[in-house]
Amino acid sequence: MEGIKLFACPYAEKFTQDIANSLGLQVSKCNVMKFANDNSFCQYEETVRGQDVYIVCQAVPNINDRVMESLIMIDAAKRASAKTINLVLPYFNYSRTDKKDQPRVPVTASMLARVYETVGIDRVITCDLHNPAINAFFTIPCDIVSAHQQLENCFKTLKSDKVVVVATDAGSTKAAYKHAKALNVPVAMIDKRREANDDRAIASTVVGDVKDRICIMFDDEVSTAGTLCEAAKILKEQGAKTIFAACTHGVLCGPAIERIEQSEIKKLLITDSIPLGDKKSDKILIESIAPMFAETIRRIHNNQSLAGMLQ
Ligand code: R5P
Repeated sequence: MEGIKLFACPYAEKFTQDIANSLGLQVSKCNVMKFANDNSFCQYEETVRGQDVYIVCQAVPNINDRVMESLIMIDAAKRASAKTINLVLPYFNYSRTDKKDQPRVPVTASMLARVYETVGIDRVITCDLHNPAINAFFTIPCDIVSAHQQLENCFKTLKSDKVVVVATDAGSTKAAYKHAKALNVPVAMIDKRREANDDRAIASTVVGDVKDRICIMFDDEVSTAGTLCEAAKILKEQGAKTIFAACTHGVLCGPAIERIEQSEIKKLLITDSIPLGDKKSDKILIESIAPMFAETIRRIHNNQSLAGMLQ
């Protein structure tokens, strides 16, 4: 792993250290601070000249500060003659603003991709995007790895004749079939609707057999937890025995923790793509994907294929 330097944006220190441990590297130091006038600033404390620089940025509020910090770190690395600049985004901020589906709205995910490229990245590595087509917003390599297999493996010990994978809405049916195939179990689907731009999810009916079954819902992210908790409620009403959920990204904003605590969900499995901070619940289990990111970086550095790791 010669010629690599790994840096953490603020709040991504633990995840970056976990990646470094898996790679047998040290995390290099970049001092990121804010002036009294609220302007962000950074300085690398060691040379990056001729190095393959990996900058890890996690989605910890305030998100806009995190985006700005990653941009100034990219700019500083570029001006300090890094050989390549690789942005590692375990969760892609603004990934849900990915299309112009109403008049006079932005496509922020696309705008951000252009900004990152303009400032100077050579590659982005991210994970389980809400819309994998975000890949095409970049003209540089955008490697989207997936935690799905790792999450599925956590359920492999359950007796498969009692299990059903439940798609939380029509949009997640395709992914549900993939999970169900991996677990060798059937699929059911919830007819979910969302109203306009607000975060409220309204579940209505279940298509498929969930009675007396262990239901597993997979999703790319749990944000306000409205989708999962509404779905769990309707599954319980339809006679589900036990309800588990697994999501790559625990955004867990607003009422999420309270909703999960009060919901019919027995356990929610998420990854450490976003640090939880003080958001705690006994129902939440964390699966680390830092080793998966480490393996991705190792393969990229050695020019090896990422086949089998991608979304
Ligand atoms: C959206 O369609 C995604 O796949 C998730 O279902 C959604 O982001 C979850 O949001 P919330 O937890 O706020 O219902």
